[in-house]
Amino acid sequence: MGSAVNSAEVRPSDTVIIMGIGGVGINAVQGAAHAAATNVIAVDPVAFKREKALELGATHVFVDIADADAFAKSVTNGQGAHSAIVTIGVVHGEHVAQAFNAIRKGGTVVVTGVTPVSEVGIPISLAMLTLNQKRIQGSLFGATNMTSDIPRQVQMYRDGTLKLDELVTREYDLGEITQGYEDMHAGVNIRGVIRF
Ligand SMILES: NC(=O)c1ccc[n+]([C@@H]2O[C@H](COP(=O)([O-])OP(=O)(O)OC[C@H]3O[C@@H](n4cnc5c(N)ncnc54)[C@H](O)[C@@H]3O)[C@@H](O)[C@H]2O)c1
Repeated sequence: MGSAVNSAEVRPSDTVIIMGIGGVGINAVQGAAHAAATNVIAVDPVAFKREKALELGATHVFVDIADADAFAKSVTNGQGAHSAIVTIGVVHGEHVAQAFNAIRKGGTVVVTGVTPVSEVGIPISLAMLTLNQKRIQGSLFGATNMTSDIPRQVQMYRDGTLKLDELVTREYDLGEITQGYEDMHAGVNIRGVIRF
């Protein structure tokens, strides 16, 4: 949620792209929706993830970033998204470049998903970085202030405006942990929870 609210600084009427709708990305969707973005565009190759995104605040869903990019430009007079939040499970430089190309001048790419530590480089035009004044912003735990943001989110949960129970697709007991990992890799859960 903080990836959208704190790091992307989503504002009312924004157009926002979220790439990767797992347990992290679905909450960026919720955050962008709460921040009153007009277009909350979720991208994931898995149909179930796109369905969940629509349930939890996305206004539009796409299988890949190329279509999301084209849609964002079509609804912003060609300018592109205000921000793109990268929450893919394993991020590579090309994903950040795709997000970079989908945002407008002065827009922000938030990189929340993690890249293999030995991997370096983002294949973007550095000239466009400068001339279009774009920002690439890393985000750790949504740049959350634990003292102020967690009580706020607990209150939102109590109010029913922050959905958490809906994120748990399936619960497992400890003996089912192998199945839990298989389901995680198969992409059948938003979140699988082991109940001890
Ligand atoms: N920065 C932080 O503080 C922080 C905290 C927790 C997790 N993470 C990282 O966030 C990332 C996401 O975590 P998660 O638990 O939500 O993972 P997840 O596996 O539950 O979800 C990732 C999603 O990305 C989708 N995906 C894969 N390739 C894609 C593509 N090319 N375009 C669009 N979607 C694509 C998958 O289908 C999946 O739904 C991971 O890299 C994780 O390590 C970062």
